[in-house]
Amino acid sequence: MTDTMQPAKKKRMLSGIKPSGALTLGSYLGAIRNWKDRAEEFDCYYFMADLHSITVRQNPADLRRRSLEQLAQYIACGIDPEKNVLFFQSHVHQHAELGWVLNCYAMFGELSRMTQFKDKSAKNADNINGGLFTYPALMAADILLYQADYVPVGEDQKQHVELTRDIAKRFNSIYGDVFTMPEPYIPKVGARIMSLANPDAKMSKSENDDPGRVTLMDPPEVIMRLFKRAITDCDAEVRYDPENKKGVSNLMTIYSATTGRSFAEIEQEFAGHGYGDFKKAVGESVVELLRPIREETCRLLADKAYLQKVMAEGAEKASYVAEKTLRKVYKKVGFVAR
Ligand code: TRP
Repeated sequence: MTDTMQPAKKKRMLSGIKPSGALTLGSYLGAIRNWKDRAEEFDCYYFMADLHSITVRQNPADLRRRSLEQLAQYIACGIDPEKNVLFFQSHVHQHAELGWVLNCYAMFGELSRMTQFKDKSAKNADNINGGLFTYPALMAADILLYQADYVPVGEDQKQHVELTRDIAKRFNSIYGDVFTMPEPYIPKVGARIMSLANPDAKMSKSENDDPGRVTLMDPPEVIMRLFKRAITDCDAEVRYDPENKKGVSNLMTIYSATTGRSFAEIEQEFAGHGYGDFKKAVGESVVELLRPIREETCRLLADKAYLQKVMAEGAEKASYVAEKTLRKVYKKVGFVAR
C-alpha cells in the first residue's frame, strides 16, 4: 500500500442473542466462538437482545441476572470489549424507535409467514402477543441501524435476515439509499449442536425446556452426567452418520469441535470401544473447554464496576452509530426535525 492510499474500511458485522435462557455449549460452538476472532477483519457489534426476550414472559429477576451473566460470558468467551462493541439492546433507545418505523414497512402477510412466529405461537398459545408477531421488524431495526454488512446467524434465523433485506429494499426503493443491504453470514466452521436428550432438536437455551442442554455455567460433575446420559443408539459403533445415528453424530460433532479432530480420526480413536468410553472422552473435552470460561465469567460477575463500564461504553458507541441512521430515517419519512 502506498502512503496515499487509505486502508479499506472494515465491513461491519452484527449479531445478538436473547437473554431468555442460559447460554449453552451450542451457543458457544455454533455462534460465540466464531464471533471472537472477527474483530481484526470486521467492525463488530454484539448485543444482548433483551427487548426481544420479553416476547415470551420472563421472570424479571432472572432476566436481569441472565442478561448480566451473558455480558460477562461474551467477554469470558474472548470477545474483547476494547475491540468489539458490546451492549444491551434496551440501552440504545433507537432500536425501539426504528423498530416502530419498520413495522410500518413490514407486511402482515410477511410476518405471518415467519416460521419462528408459527413455532412460538404454537408453544405459547396463551400469550401470542403483538411483540411476538412483529419481532422481525425489531430485528430488522437491530441490523439496519448499524448498516451491518454481515449478520452471523444460525439456519433458524436466516428467514428473519431475508425479511430484513426485503424491508430494506422496500424502504430504499421509496426513499433512496438509506440502508446497507445485510447478508446472513454462515461461518465455514460453525457447528450446529443438538440436544443430548433429543438429537432431533437444537440444544435449547430456554430454561427447563431441554434436559439435554449443557450450559456454560454447568460444573464438571453436571457436564459428565449429561454426557453419560446422552441418547445414542444400540449398534455400539462410533461412526458419523447424521441420518441414521443422530445422537452419536452429534457427540462426534461436539468432540470434533472441542479437539479439532476429524470424524475419520474420531472413528479410528474409538474403533472397538463401547459408547461408555466415547461419552466419557467427549464429556471430559467439554469440561476442559468450558472450565476457563466459567471461571472467568464468575470473576467478571464479581467485578460489577468493570461490567458497568463496559456496558456504558458499549451503549455510547452503539448509540452514536444508531442515532445517525435514525435521524436519516426520520428525515426521509417526513418527521419534523426537533
Ligand atoms: N432473533 C435472534 C435469535 O432468536 C436474536 C436477534 C435479535 C438477532 N436481533 C438480532 C440476531 C439481530 C442477529 C441480528 O437468535
